[in-house]
Parts: sequence; structure tokens; C-alpha cells
Amino acid sequence: MQVGIDKIGFFTPNKYVDMVDLAHARNEDPNKYLIGIGQKQMSVADQTQDAVSMGINATLRYIDQIDKKKVGLLVFGTESSVDQSKSASLFVKSALNLRPEVRTFEVKEACFGLTASLMIARDFVRVHSDETAIIIGSDIARYGVGTPGEVTQGAGSISLLIKSDPAILALNDGHSAYSQDINDFWRPNGSKLAMVDGKYSTQVYLDFFKNVFDKYKEDKHLETKDFDAIIYHLPFTKQGLKANRIAIENQDEETTNRLQNSFEASKQLSMRVGNVYTASLYMSLLSLLENDELDSDALVGLFSYGSGAMAEFFSGNVVADYQKQLDEKGDLALLDRRQRLTVKEYEDTFNNALEEPKDGEELSSDEAEGVWYFAGTKNHIRQYKQK
Ligand code: CAA
Repeated sequence: MQVGIDKIGFFTPNKYVDMVDLAHARNEDPNKYLIGIGQKQMSVADQTQDAVSMGINATLRYIDQIDKKKVGLLVFGTESSVDQSKSASLFVKSALNLRPEVRTFEVKEACFGLTASLMIARDFVRVHSDETAIIIGSDIARYGVGTPGEVTQGAGSISLLIKSDPAILALNDGHSAYSQDINDFWRPNGSKLAMVDGKYSTQVYLDFFKNVFDKYKEDKHLETKDFDAIIYHLPFTKQGLKANRIAIENQDEETTNRLQNSFEASKQLSMRVGNVYTASLYMSLLSLLENDELDSDALVGLFSYGSGAMAEFFSGNVVADYQKQLDEKGDLALLDRRQRLTVKEYEDTFNNALEEPKDGEELSSDEAEGVWYFAGTKNHIRQYKQK
């Protein structure tokens, strides 16, 4: 039985900063951000968009196309959690009116959280082939105003429906995993800002990529030229470019061109949204599917990396007519609707979002009709509302 991704829903908040504006404000050459880092824009979440509301909004993109009674599992991967105890997924389950019998929880291992959810969902559907699973990755990347990591922030969510006989990507058995207890990036309790050993983190990512990619090819008796595309977790697109350079080292011209083109296609959304941690690799997948022309059965390799650190390489085959499942116009409209903030407006919005609203204070949102948002707390219980 084939199991894999049947639907992809994407959401990002309605504000962004342009990287040229940010470079000018930070006295940097814009090309450092545009070329050196590889980012053009970065989505900004105000106080009313958090991991939960973004996860609901991403799932809303396809919820009317699925049979909700069949959803038996709902897993939420995030490193921007809103509660130390209650799962983010319970708020989502309630907003989407999923049945009480659904098994639901949250998982965490930095940006690896949605891949962990995917593997759990794949095993669940293998055992319960008539049921489906919704898995969500939703995050706000925050390093702080004026920090070196500032240009690699972002906000957004990806929601995936996992089922048997999937319509987008059939996952292959097997994977190559590697983990090590290291301190490249972390966020202590009570801090809304991530701490990072920036240069070290970029090197560990590449070392882990080489490790799991080589091991995967060895285990599966594959060569680099067998892949039609390789996609990456993209903390910023230059990082994926460096990993892709490792992948195509010593390859023939045809393979090199193919994997360079597919990488270009896969980074388009990330360049405009920024880092979305758990959702990042799957935003690369969506971008690849929307911007490349893949034959049915094309082999896609996926590299997932979560700081701390945990990496995994796995693969899937594209399903015929996958294009019918996509909403490219809707995804572009979501980006184009965003308001361009001045750097001062971004700084104010960013710093305001670090504050928790006073208990009992009702927040209002400037999002469009139908969008869910965080409306404040009542008796310290988070309230989510739909515009
Ligand atoms: N034109 C073109 N390129 C330029 C340039 C210009 N005028 N000026 C500088 N550059 C280039 C530099 O040469 C450099 O390129 P290389 O990487 O190819 O050498 C690049 O721009 C970046 O310049 P710096 O190294 O000077 O950048 P920095 O010190 O300001 O920091 C960073 C970069 C370490 C990535 C920092 O943004 C950071 O800490 N980000 C957060 C951490 C992160 O994202 N790590 C990724 C791996 S961890 C992970 O993947 C998990 C996760 O999601 C966080």
C-alpha cells in the first residue's frame, strides 16, 4: 500500500519586510541579504498570529475537500508552542470541528517536528488504511531586532493530509537518520527569541546533510543521478544552495543542471516568506511542485534538519496529475496580499508580539474575512476567533 501526501495547505501572515529596506536600515550592502543570505522578503507575525492560528489557517486551505470523519490522527509539530502542557493541536481540532475520536498531540525537535509528525502519520495510516492524518508544522522564527539572525526570520505554516493512495507524493520505505546532542540553536523556557551559534549551526547542517545523504544512497543502492529533485530544510535559501552544491559535486552536466533547476524551483516561497522552521522543508516541496515540471513517478529526495540536532533523509515519488491538487494562484495571492512594513513598523510589530496581552484584553485582527487569529486570553485561557 502506498502512503503519502495527499493535500498541502500553506499560510503566512499578512505583513512583510523587504530585505533591501532592512539592509539599508542595518547599514549592510543589500546584496549581502539578497545574494549572500538568499532572501528577498520576510513575513512578520503580529501579536494576533501565533503557531496555532497559522496552523488552523493552513489547514483551512483544504479542509472542505476532505472527509473529516476519516481523520483519525492530528499531529502538530512546532518550536513556537503556546502552552507548556496543552497541545496546540487541540485548539486546531476544535476550530476545525474534528471528531472526538481523533488521536491528537504535539511534537518537538526544533525544525524536525513536522518530519517526525510525517513519519508517525505514515505508520498510523499503514495500520489504519481507511483513516487519514492531518499533520501541521507552524512556526515564527525570531532572533531579535538588529541580531545577525534577524535576516533569517519568518512566519508561516504548512498543513499536510496523509493518506493511502496519495495524490501528491508517495513516500518510499526507509530513511537515513542521524542525531547528536549539540548546541547550535536553542530557545530556553521563558524566551521568545532563539539563541544560536550561527556559524557553527550552518556547518553542522552541512555535515549532517552529507552524512544522511551518503548513507541513504548506500542503503538504497541509489546514486545522486537517480534523483529528479532534492529539497532541503531552508533556514535561508543560501544554506540549501550550499547543501545542493555538496549533492551535485562531481556529477555530470545533465544531473547538475537538473538538480540546480529543481533547487531554484524549491526556494521560491522561502525567499519571500523566510524561515518557518518545522514547515520549511514542506514549503520547499510546495514550491518545487508549483515551479518545476516533474514527470509522474519523479524521485524527490527530502533533507530534514532540526537543531539540537537531528537530521533525516528520505524520499518520495511524485504522483501523476499532482498539479490538480495545488492552488498556485491562491498561494501567490497569499504572498501578494501582504502589507509591506517600513523597518520601523516591523520593529514595533515584532517587539509588540513579544509581549503577552493583559489577561482579559480582547485583541482585534486586521486580517481578511475568514482568517483565524489569537484574540487574547480569558482567565489565562487562549482564545481563537475567526474574522
Ligand atoms: N554580496 C554578496 N554576498 C555577500 C555580501 C555582499 N555584499 N556580503 C556578505 N556576503 C556573503 C558572505 O560572503 C557570506 O557568504 P558565505 O556564507 O557563502 O560565506 C554570506 O553573505 C553571509 O555573510 P556572513 O557570514 O558575514 O553573515 P552573518 O555573520 O551576518 O550571519 C548567519 C549569517 C550565521 C546565517 C546568521 O544569519 C544566523 O545566525 N542565522 C540564524 C542561524 C541559522 O539559520 N542557521 C542555519 C543552520 S541551523 C538550522 O537550519 C535550523 C534552523 O532553522 C535555525
